[in-house]
Amino acid sequence: MGMESWWSKFISVCSFILLLLNATHCFSPAQNEALGQVDECSALLQFKESFAINKSVSADPLAYPKVSFWTREGDGNRSNCCSWDGVECDEDFGHVVGLDLRSSCLYGSINSSNTLFRLVHLQWLDLSDNHFNFSQIPSRFGDDLSNLTYLNLSNSLFSGEIPPEISKLSKLSTLDLSFNYHKVKVYDDSFPLKLTNANMRSLVQNLTAIKQLHLNWVEMYSTVPDILVNASSLTSLQLGVCVLNGEFPIGIFHLPNLEVLDVNGNSYLTGYFPNFNRSNALKKLNVANTNFSGQLPNSLGNLHSLTTFAISLCNFHPNVPSSSLANLTQLGYLSMSTFNDVSKGKLSVSFSWVGKLTKLYHLSLGDTNIKGEFPSFVSNLTQLEFLDLSDNEISGQIPSWLMKLTQLTTLSLGDNNLQGPIPRSLFQLKNLEYLSLSSNNLSGLVEFDQFSKLKKLKRLLLSDNMLSVEIRNDLSATLPKLQTLALGSCNLTEFPNFLKNQSELTKLDLSENYIHGPIPKWLWNATIETLWGLRLYDNFLTGFDQYPGILPWTNLNYLGLGSNMLQGPLPIPPQSIRLYDVENNEYTGEISPLFCNFSNLQVLRLSNNSLSGMLPQCLGNSSVLEVLGLHNNFFNGYIPPICPSKTSLRIVDFSYNQLQGKLPRGVMNCTQLNVLNFANNQMSDIFPSWLGALPELRSLILRSNGFHGVIGKPATKHEFPNLRIIDLSNNGFSGMLPSNYFEIWNSMKYVDENQQTYFEVDTDVVGGSYFQSDYAMTISGKGVQLKYEKTPYLLTVIDLSSNRFEGEIPEGPVGNLRGLVLLNLSNNSLTGHIPSSLGDLAFLESLDLSQNQLSGRIPSNLAQLTFLAYFNVSHNHLSGPIPLGKQFDTFQEDSYEGNSGLCGKSLPKKCEDSESSTRPPSSIVGDDEDSVFQIALDWYVVVPGVVSGLIVGVVVGNIWTTKKHEWFVETFSRRRKPRSTRARRGRRT
Ligand SMILES: *[C@@H]1O[C@H](CO)[C@@H](O)[C@H](O)[C@H]1NC(C)=O
Ligand SMILES: *[C@@H]1O[C@H](CO)[C@@H](O)[C@H](O)[C@H]1NC(C)=O
Repeated sequence: MGMESWWSKFISVCSFILLLLNATHCFSPAQNEALGQVDECSALLQFKESFAINKSVSADPLAYPKVSFWTREGDGNRSNCCSWDGVECDEDFGHVVGLDLRSSCLYGSINSSNTLFRLVHLQWLDLSDNHFNFSQIPSRFGDDLSNLTYLNLSNSLFSGEIPPEISKLSKLSTLDLSFNYHKVKVYDDSFPLKLTNANMRSLVQNLTAIKQLHLNWVEMYSTVPDILVNASSLTSLQLGVCVLNGEFPIGIFHLPNLEVLDVNGNSYLTGYFPNFNRSNALKKLNVANTNFSGQLPNSLGNLHSLTTFAISLCNFHPNVPSSSLANLTQLGYLSMSTFNDVSKGKLSVSFSWVGKLTKLYHLSLGDTNIKGEFPSFVSNLTQLEFLDLSDNEISGQIPSWLMKLTQLTTLSLGDNNLQGPIPRSLFQLKNLEYLSLSSNNLSGLVEFDQFSKLKKLKRLLLSDNMLSVEIRNDLSATLPKLQTLALGSCNLTEFPNFLKNQSELTKLDLSENYIHGPIPKWLWNATIETLWGLRLYDNFLTGFDQYPGILPWTNLNYLGLGSNMLQGPLPIPPQSIRLYDVENNEYTGEISPLFCNFSNLQVLRLSNNSLSGMLPQCLGNSSVLEVLGLHNNFFNGYIPPICPSKTSLRIVDFSYNQLQGKLPRGVMNCTQLNVLNFANNQMSDIFPSWLGALPELRSLILRSNGFHGVIGKPATKHEFPNLRIIDLSNNGFSGMLPSNYFEIWNSMKYVDENQQTYFEVDTDVVGGSYFQSDYAMTISGKGVQLKYEKTPYLLTVIDLSSNRFEGEIPEGPVGNLRGLVLLNLSNNSLTGHIPSSLGDLAFLESLDLSQNQLSGRIPSNLAQLTFLAYFNVSHNHLSGPIPLGKQFDTFQEDSYEGNSGLCGKSLPKKCEDSESSTRPPSSIVGDDEDSVFQIALDWYVVVPGVVSGLIVGVVVGNIWTTKKHEWFVETFSRRRKPRSTRARRGRRT
């Protein structure tokens, strides 16, 4: 083919193409006018009609109802919707291609027949910040709007499954489905928007052009798909609070255009940081509250564009590459509170490098082990709006230079060792909205009217210092309207008068003051709709003034009235109640069956009152109840069928009442149960061996009831897999000691010394923070009553005393229980020798074998037990010399009395030379015995012997102590773990 013919062919093809293009250009608009645009305009009008306008549903202060200006002008035929507010048309064809109705006050449902889906040419659609009334996202978004490049349905109260059809929108460059949760009930347990049928991988695999993928608060239970590593256009990936798990694909960090990466609030998500290149474009990096771990690499210093860096609540190595981080001079937002794995030990980290980051407006360094004087580098950071240094060991005075930080809106200094007065300069921080100085050693007089100067103040927390707060009676008018007020232990003697005008209060804490008399009526009048939590622990309150029968606060979640002098019947809370704690009062009467109807109730603590009557049959029915504490009242009758179906009960304490009958078999369904305590009732049953099937049971206390019979053998080797405490004392059990159980109680056989924390139950009661119950308990021995204010996690106890057990102490099985701390077999009919294997129980602190018929010698190797603080073998038939050795030198004669054959230095009968016991080899006795012993004593408070056993009914018994501060610790990112309910549990186990 010649050059010319090729050229002419080319020309003719080109002109044909041009002709085609022209033709489209000429005919289409006209056609469109006739067939398309009018239809689109009426579709828009019908769309408008399908919603109500409600100004309160859009959060943006600039929100306005755009659609209310849409009208058909002229004869309708010529209407041109392209000029309507929020509507954008294609210039050439006149099709509606863009619809921007964000913050437009739209309220109503949207379903698949909505005329929106007739706008098939749409490329740009923003419906964010409206209220679609929990509609499901119709699949027609994916089926009909296939040319969408921008889709934003965030903040609009859609709910249910994300339809898989969304993945057909392969042209999308922006997909934003974030924050579709209920704006009021943030902490409810239901995620409205879910992606659980399909997975995230199938959602994103076709989105090859995606630049912004925002799925915050979509419940996914998914891993982060590694195909995102290929999404080379991605600039912004936001997957905050999505219940993600698995390992975060490290390649995502290297995406060339990625500027925003936010996976915060996914506690199950593991991951680590790569080495970052200088070319990395990241501006915002937020992995806070995830399971990210490993080193913080030096190469973080290469992220020179970084403005946000959030790694709080992670498990990073505590080594901080300070000089690299000091290079990040663009940083405005730095959040490192509890960034490291605390269990790996605390490293003292210097944060002086932070002083170089002068653009910082947000700084969180809570719980980062900062010690000593108030860190002076903070004085450089004059742009700061948010400063959290709480939960450190900062001492000395609050520096007056803080007033230079005039932009501060949040100042959180709680849980430190700050001393001296609250400086006057603090009241010059006119922008403060949040001020917490709780739990320090601040002292002096606080003239409360000073706070009138802080006009913007919303939350004020001063509890747990040594402050005396003085409140003038005429103060009220000038104070700002507060939402949170915590004045615990502030030496108050009455309810502050200004509360009458505090109509926006959601949380009020006046615990540990000297407030006498009734709770005044005006207190609830002012806060009737707003109050969410009320803590009045440890005062001298007697009741509610003009009590209306039901507590009037309509949104009350948390009621803490413990340790007062409250009388009369239990106050009935509103339906919203989640935590109800009135322990240590003088309440009388019965538990109203209304308590069964509180479907949100998670913690019910009524211990140490004078309540009586039968327990309502439905008590313990609830599927959300976690703690049921009824210790030390006068309840009688049969025990209601707790856990009729699967429940979340963790602690059941019915001890010290007058309950009768058998242990209800429904307890089998309490699969989460940790503690079951029925001590000191009048129950009558055989050994409930079926409890062995409860996988989480740690503590079984049936002391002082009418349990009886032979204990027998376990059905399988896997019974009671987590049992650490069993107290069957003072019942009628008979037969041999249950040596087959001793053999299978595996969790009593080891000690993980890294685990020396206390046994606590976290209850995710409270949005914004959570509630922690320390489990306190008593274990009685002859002569001493051991009261554990907190139960050490590893406390391991067997108490089978005061039954009718007979036969020998099984040498092997007992010797294997090497975690045992307390062993009490006293007051039975045991015979034979004391097994020398007891000398292997290296953690034993108390051994009581008294009042049996044991014979032979006391094994000399018991002197190896360097923690042994209590030892009693009195009233047996023992003979021979008593062991020698440090611990044994401390035991008095009464440990041995009633054994006429025993001899020894501390006994009236001295040994003949030939009988003298050999000391154990000195290498076995711990060198630092004293300090070890000290630890042992720290574990418990020894109540003088006279108390136990003699004064029946006055029991220094099980007291639930509450970690009081938890409730008000509002240190934002750290304890404010709104959605990580499941995750947190997962992490703690
Ligand atoms: C979608 O976009 C393509 C390419 O830009 C175009 O050819 C097609 O007509 C569009 N579809 C609609 C329904 O507008
Ligand atoms: C991805 O796109 C292809 C072709 O457009 C389509 O056949 C497939 O169904 C899409 N996949 C998903 C998960 O939507």
